Amino acid sequence: MKKNLLLLTLIGSLFVACSSPSVEERPIKNRALALTPPMGWNSWNTIRREISDSVIRQIVDIMVASGMQDAGYEYIVLDDFWLAPQRDSAGNLQGDPDRFPHGMAAIGEYIHQNGFKFGIYNCGGRQTCGGLPGMYGHEEQDVATFASWGVDYLKVDFCFSEGIDAREEYTKIAQALSKVERPIVFSICDGGENNPWEWGGEIGHLWRTTWDIGPRWKHDARYVGSWHELGIVDIIDRNSYLREYNRPGAWNDPDMLEVGHGLTDTEGKAHFSMWAMLAAPLMAGNDLRKMTDETISILTNKEVIAVDQDSLGYQAMKYKSDSDLDIWVKPLQHDDWAVCFLNRAEEIRTINFEWTKYPIRDRLAGRILDASEVTYRMRDLWRKEWVGTTDSPIVADIAPHDVLMLRLTPVVQ
Ligand code: GLA
Repeated sequence: MKKNLLLLTLIGSLFVACSSPSVEERPIKNRALALTPPMGWNSWNTIRREISDSVIRQIVDIMVASGMQDAGYEYIVLDDFWLAPQRDSAGNLQGDPDRFPHGMAAIGEYIHQNGFKFGIYNCGGRQTCGGLPGMYGHEEQDVATFASWGVDYLKVDFCFSEGIDAREEYTKIAQALSKVERPIVFSICDGGENNPWEWGGEIGHLWRTTWDIGPRWKHDARYVGSWHELGIVDIIDRNSYLREYNRPGAWNDPDMLEVGHGLTDTEGKAHFSMWAMLAAPLMAGNDLRKMTDETISILTNKEVIAVDQDSLGYQAMKYKSDSDLDIWVKPLQHDDWAVCFLNRAEEIRTINFEWTKYPIRDRLAGRILDASEVTYRMRDLWRKEWVGTTDSPIVADIAPHDVLMLRLTPVVQ
């Protein structure tokens, strides 16, 4: 009997050894992660150098109390300036001892205890953009350090990278990630400078498509220079050319949200709607400690979030643009569609759109929104009301920098 058991155990372990790939054979990318666009909060847009253990703990608490966790925000990402200026004597990265006196594993533990996932920032160059130690030449060691702290999401920038090939460097980091036991989402952040959409999906889960977002509607000549921040509509325009690259597990990243930071509430609503249409990662970037009720209600609009998180993962297509009024459409699961009318103008625009007259064909998705064949019920996702069917035209005034965002659901005959 004992002999048989021993034999069985032996066969069992041989089977396990044969079926689970060795570290060297593991695929470079964990394809089970980020199947919908990651959602969370990132410290960069507003907290910047003020980042610390106590600020992050406050943010975590507010994420729970404000309903953001309940709405789906999952990752708490510590961006630049968490690092000490020097590696330790063994060459390991370490947290800034003044900002993180309990160490990085401790803040990770607090994040986890509260039901969130722990994200951290570094750089594939020699230094982070803030001038702190980067990962170049230390890829495996640093990824192992992050894994030992319980990191679940790694954002990797590309500053101070003269002479380093972006694709090679990010591939090295992806290889290092595949060697640790912890599943870690890999966020590529080279400011879109090395066409990461062409190669990022094979090694990472999201890639920045542009240089940094700023708290403004449109690019402003005053902010041009070494630090040229883009506005909401500039980023939307650039992303519109990258639609074909977006898919579950591989996302165009138009940068973190500026809702509740420098935009009017109307602009914040339009920005949030369009990020959802683009199936963009939803990383709030506002200072949650100063968040208004209006900002909370924008960030936690579950019907808009559902458009972002739709399992098909299509980025919306720009169907039409006329006199600064855009029409964006996004195919959703169960034959639904999201449609967003975006008024980019400085004046009110009136829409009068006859659904039955204009079938909208989406070649990428192989779908057609043809209201002369199928009648759809329309839901206004901001008013949270049903607003008739596509048998009648949709008529509305849209304020400057505002949207009308609809979800269309086929009427079952
Ligand atoms: C770059 C990135 C930003 C932020 C800063 C930190 O500018 O694009 O998102 O991470 O670096 O220094």
